[in-house]
Amino acid sequence: MSRLITLITGLSFALFSASTEVRRAGNYAATCQEIATSVSSSASKVYYNGSPQYTKDNDHWASSSSQTSACSFEPATAQDVGIALQILAKDQTPFAVKSGGHSAVPGFSSTPGVQIALFSFSEIVYDASADMATIGMGLIWDDVYTELEQYDVTVVGATSPGVGIGGVILGGGYSYLSNQYGLSLDNAVAFELVMPNGTVASITSSSDSDLFFGLRGGFNNFGIVTTVTVKTYPQSQVWGGRISYAEAQWDEVNTVIANFVANVSDTKAFVHSTGDYAAGEPFVSNILFYDAPEYPDGIFDDFLAIEHFDEDLSTRSYSDLILTLPTNVTTGFRVMFSWVPLEQFTPSILEMVKNQTEFYGAELMQYSTTLISYDVIPYLPSLYDHYDTPSAFPSSRDSGQGHSFIELYYGWTNPDDDAKMHQVAAESVAYMKQFIVDAGQDMTNALLYPNCAPSGTALEDMYGDALERLQSIRSAVDPDNVMSLTGGWRF
Ligand SMILES: Cc1cc2nc3c(=O)[nH]c(=O)nc-3n(C[C@H](O)[C@H](O)[C@H](O)COP(=O)(O)OP(=O)(O)OC[C@H]3O[C@@H](n4cnc5c(N)ncnc54)[C@H](O)[C@@H]3O)c2cc1C
Ligand SMILES: *[C@@H]1O[C@H](CO)[C@@H](O)[C@H](O)[C@H]1NC(C)=O
Ligand SMILES: *[C@@H]1O[C@H](CO)[C@@H](O)[C@H](O)[C@H]1NC(C)=O
Ligand SMILES: *[C@@H]1O[C@H](CO)[C@@H](O)[C@H](O)[C@H]1NC(C)=O
Ligand SMILES: *[C@@H]1O[C@H](CO)[C@@H](O)[C@H](O)[C@H]1NC(C)=O
Repeated sequence: MSRLITLITGLSFALFSASTEVRRAGNYAATCQEIATSVSSSASKVYYNGSPQYTKDNDHWASSSSQTSACSFEPATAQDVGIALQILAKDQTPFAVKSGGHSAVPGFSSTPGVQIALFSFSEIVYDASADMATIGMGLIWDDVYTELEQYDVTVVGATSPGVGIGGVILGGGYSYLSNQYGLSLDNAVAFELVMPNGTVASITSSSDSDLFFGLRGGFNNFGIVTTVTVKTYPQSQVWGGRISYAEAQWDEVNTVIANFVANVSDTKAFVHSTGDYAAGEPFVSNILFYDAPEYPDGIFDDFLAIEHFDEDLSTRSYSDLILTLPTNVTTGFRVMFSWVPLEQFTPSILEMVKNQTEFYGAELMQYSTTLISYDVIPYLPSLYDHYDTPSAFPSSRDSGQGHSFIELYYGWTNPDDDAKMHQVAAESVAYMKQFIVDAGQDMTNALLYPNCAPSGTALEDMYGDALERLQSIRSAVDPDNVMSLTGGWRF
């Protein structure tokens, strides 16, 4: 572990000199004051620059996702979210809605206007008789896993620490449990939604099938969600964790991953492999997961037999397993993500991903690069089969495409390098897509994950044929275009 952390933090010396994006603020102070004096609950509070709450409310996992807001607002009731939305609409003041602050796209949960942070929606109410839990949108998934462990149940959410409920459940949610239970949003049963005009409603598939369709993939296009009710599942201890290998073992690791993908169809087994390039050094780190205290004979033995420099594998709680993907280490960099769907990882595709990691890792080290990584995320072809009603994402479920993914992550510190990083990432993504097509995998209609698509991605590429329906749902619930005052994928 210590070597891994050293590698990742090795080039982060410039981190604390990285400047946050500061835009010239408009005169938004009046809006802030009116919100502060109009709210109905004394627990709903407006904060200003200089207070710790203001700092926390504006903070993001990626420094490139933060801005300096005029004030921050922590509503404590859905009614007060509605009051704020009405004032913001009247003043035409830009605002942001933040749950866990892990969006990698600049401006999606930050603003020069009023930063709304949902931390006060922090309740977890477990209903054992219904196998459901109602969760506040101010929480992170780790907190929910930990809280539900006393009942031996869990929910389908993010795979690493610190990620918010909001962006995941409203955008997708690929989990270690998705081969068994689908995406996070497949497990949503009800949303408490504050509509753009301030009206509070409970949205279920029977109360409003359009909004229930739209909210599962449509983020903040239809208003602000305060709580979500999700299905719960029995959860025992699990087996797994992290195992990392030096470059010399990478080819062996790829052979074992290819065999795993070709041979293992057990929905409880999962491998997530990350090719890293940090501090001038390439290495590969795998998360192995089995949803039981012991894994069945054979399936992970080959991974353990390869020489490795770091190992943190055991029978443990699900919440403890989540901590073994050390994404908190990379907090504070400028970042971008990109996403390449494919049908199946093959030895030649794994070799190509290794080459992309090493090629662009070496090329980008002349910039303020701290870490680049390419994640290999294999899922079973049945990934998208676990749902009751259609959702905004992934709308084209029956196309039989998009079963596995390459996720690209670049981290750096100097804002002057932003354009270069985005340009190089686009070049790498284009190369990988072509390689996959040339390998005979037809991904023409595969949808990109809106949570990992880079700034500027065309809406059609993420929402496909559903886009028209989403646009008409949006204009029905938000005729005055209030939500266009905030960032995000705008229908
Ligand atoms: C370290 C890391 C690990 C990740 N791991 C996973 C993973 O395992 N699986 C996966 O699928 N994805 C993962 N992601 C991607 C993740 O799904 C997105 O970053 C997601 O948007 C984060 O949600 P958030 O609430 O933390 O983000 P935020 O930045 O707070 O919100 C993201 C967007 O959703 C909107 N939004 C959030 N809450 C609400 C709300 N209550 N009402 C209306 N709009 C809202 C925001 O306005 C914003 O536009 C990961 C990302 C990071 C950085
Ligand atoms: C990771 O960061 C989040 C804030 O984004 C914090 O709440 C959480 O406690 C951290 N987890 C660990 C294991 O450090
Ligand atoms: C696993 O798959 C590979 C092909 O990738 C094959 O050569 C091998 O025999 C399989 N092993 C088992 C145990 O099925
Ligand atoms: C490695 O990737 C680079 C950049 O995409 C490409 O130009 C090069 O041909 C690749 N090398 C091999 C051996 O495939
Ligand atoms: C707010 O919008 C919703 C959805 O269009 C509508 O049902 C409701 O009546 C509106 N509320 C007010 C107070 O206009």
